[in-house]
Amino acid sequence: MSKTATLEIDGNKYEFPIIKGTENELGIDVKTLRGATGGVTTIDPGYKNTGSCESAITFLDGEKGILRYRGYSIEELAEKADFLEVAYLLIFGELPTATELEKFDNDIKEESHVDEDMKKILDGFPKSAHPMGVLSSLTSALIAFNPGSVDVDSEEEMYNAIVKILAKFPVLAAWTMRKRKSLPLDYGDDSLGYVQNLHKMMFARPNKSYEPNKLVYDALDKLLILHADHEQNCSTSTVRIVGSSHAGLFASLSAGISALWGPLHGGANQAVIEMLEAIKADGGDTAKYIAKAKDKNDPFRLMGFGHRVYKNFDPRAKIIKKSAEEVLGDLGIEDPVLDIAKGLAKVALEDEYFVKRKLYPNVDFYSGIIYRALGIPTEMFTVMFALGRLPGWIAQWREMRLRKEPIGRPRQIYIGENDRKFVPVSER
Ligand code: SDX
Repeated sequence: MSKTATLEIDGNKYEFPIIKGTENELGIDVKTLRGATGGVTTIDPGYKNTGSCESAITFLDGEKGILRYRGYSIEELAEKADFLEVAYLLIFGELPTATELEKFDNDIKEESHVDEDMKKILDGFPKSAHPMGVLSSLTSALIAFNPGSVDVDSEEEMYNAIVKILAKFPVLAAWTMRKRKSLPLDYGDDSLGYVQNLHKMMFARPNKSYEPNKLVYDALDKLLILHADHEQNCSTSTVRIVGSSHAGLFASLSAGISALWGPLHGGANQAVIEMLEAIKADGGDTAKYIAKAKDKNDPFRLMGFGHRVYKNFDPRAKIIKKSAEEVLGDLGIEDPVLDIAKGLAKVALEDEYFVKRKLYPNVDFYSGIIYRALGIPTEMFTVMFALGRLPGWIAQWREMRLRKEPIGRPRQIYIGENDRKFVPVSER
């Protein structure tokens, strides 16, 4: 394998080093391109062929459908670990010992209060506000109540900001949901585990006993693990580039939440259920929606299908599909949209249009079916994605800051007007 790449422009040859990752991925290092060529840059809308960083956090192979967090397979972690363990692994690079995990859990619990004045900000939103917009705003507002978490440079300051947001984010997410249901805002129960406490904050009802259900906790814990990181996806790249200006962790996360909201990204899990419900209302006519998805004149896309990187089954989709069947079975729920989803996937996976473009079900295709079975409202689905992705965003932000990455500032190719003289309005 050659160690350099040669570029020839107007008879001049330029050599650039090829770097190789620990999984044998190769990247042409073009850090010196512009200087060496007198101003030539690359152009790659959507960064389909461009690496933004070297990272040791998550490895995925889109062709083989492999996903690993810090070298551990997603299949093993989903089966054997719990979400807080995976959060620690992603952020600090190693599975925690029992002592490390206990300290991490206690440090988070110490920070689980949220300033009561934050409720005044929440009160300012109409009940109809989308929870992702509310959560992005509340996450940014946290900065005002935790000013010490902004300009963090030392690992200790970063750790303090990290445990703060891991503690407060679930509270804000639960508040966002309860506000829509006109329920009192709950602070949860520090005697419970991280995910159990999240579920209790979301679902505990005043004057009713709260019945914990291990099956529900376990399903939720697994879903959060499956969403925890995914290398340089849209929202993680947003967190990194905002953080590269030293805007602080909470501000970077607030931006990441907004990026995740989009229906082409994390918002797809809500869009999938809305699509499946539309198909159900339409008499289950999957062929009509497959045709719409293939019609270039129709902006409709088969939500939950396709992926920028996976050109094979998304390994998370496989696990979630199996979990959806188990959860619905164990809870004794018959949800017709699961059958519609399976029917839709079967038809699409046999259709030339999807096969040729290597479009497979992604993480969002089945996740909403489980969220619904767990009683989570559709408009909260992407908030659940954000709760899962939080440790991944934190890990990526921390890696970027510890590696002292430069501020993100892409170049462009200008295609506008050439130099022209100003004309006074009286002469236009
Ligand atoms: C997530 O990046 C990550 O890792 C994201 C994520 C994570 O964990 O962070 O995995 C989470 O965001 C999953 C993706 C959720 N989004 C959706 O389910 C929305 C539907 N999917 C698409 O919009 C699309 O597949 C994307 C956005 C996911 C990927 O788009 P790309 O890589 O930019 O691919 P493309 O738009 O260039 O499509 C290539 C071709 C096009 O057709 P042609 O122009 O070649 O004829 O495939 C077609 C597209 O029209 N296509 C689809 C399609 N997805 C792609 N056609 C119909 N339905 C679809 N879903």
